[in-house]
Amino acid sequence: MKVGLLTGGGDCPGLNAVIRAVARRSFSRGHEVVGVREGWRGLVDGIFEPLGGSEISGLLPRGGTILGTSRTNPYKLDGGVEAVLERFAAEGFDALVAIGGEDTLGVAARLHAEHDLPVVGVPKTIDNDLSGTDYTFGFDTAVTIATEAIDRLHTTAESHNRVMVVEVMGRHAGWIAVMSGIAGGADVILIPEQPVDYDDVVEGIRKRHARGKNFSIVVVSEGCDLPGIEDTGEVDAFGHVTLSHRGVGEVLGREIEERTGFETRVTVLGHVQRGGSPTPRDRVLATRYGLKAAELAYTGQFGQMAALRGDDIVAVSLEEATAELKTVPPEWYAVAQAFFG
Ligand code: F6P
Repeated sequence: MKVGLLTGGGDCPGLNAVIRAVARRSFSRGHEVVGVREGWRGLVDGIFEPLGGSEISGLLPRGGTILGTSRTNPYKLDGGVEAVLERFAAEGFDALVAIGGEDTLGVAARLHAEHDLPVVGVPKTIDNDLSGTDYTFGFDTAVTIATEAIDRLHTTAESHNRVMVVEVMGRHAGWIAVMSGIAGGADVILIPEQPVDYDDVVEGIRKRHARGKNFSIVVVSEGCDLPGIEDTGEVDAFGHVTLSHRGVGEVLGREIEERTGFETRVTVLGHVQRGGSPTPRDRVLATRYGLKAAELAYTGQFGQMAALRGDDIVAVSLEEATAELKTVPPEWYAVAQAFFG
């Protein structure tokens, strides 16, 4: 068998661990593994890289992706889908393992449904917003980095009697904010799934000060709909609004300082959350996903994605996994809320 492997969308820690696991399992079965460079762009343009023992050596702890990535959407390019199908056939691939989030896997689901492309998926994203799986790999590392940042901001906030606003990623889902905020003991957490009322935020901070706590930590998700923020309308190839220029943290910090009179500082964690080595949990999850994906390809279970359900790695359909975003349910937000103010 000749197995193609691609990583698409925003990178995240653990991608290389999946590549290693797919390759190791495939080699042990005598299969050939070929890397497709830079996500779907590599299949549109035919940029391939054979993977052997030396290419996959040392990958387990390594961040980023050795295959490169892009947000190329073949459905948005003239002749893009035809090019993918032709290159796939010309290269003699028997199966493709697509490692990505809702966009990359959404393309995989469509190519499978519409053109019978023999593809299987692996759920990646720091945002943890893919349905069909309990967790995506990359998320635990992002939460770990954000939690460490919150811990560090606590000590300096306390020394200076300041309010610290921390802006985290997550796009339209508040998972990183909620999990790192709970783990870091944040006093206010704002996420896209919940309406933001500045009066409530300010009241929470004032209440803390009234009981002698002269500092506060506020975690805000980049995708929050804050009064006073207007989107520029800038979108990527998948139609997603670019969130990094919205300045949610800055707007919120200014509002808090003006309304409370408490000195406020803002930290935007940005791509730090996506960089560096995966946590042990993500290494193990990525490895298990990679082995499952290789097995799905080997047994011809195309149109399926490796997924985590409880403690088990199972197969779910790509269609189900990409049908809708998995956002933070109210029960999870309630856990965080119990510690506000
Ligand atoms: O989807 C992962 C993610 O990091 C989001 O949390 C964030 O909104 C986006 O990607 C940033 O994208 P880029 O790397 O293109 O700035």
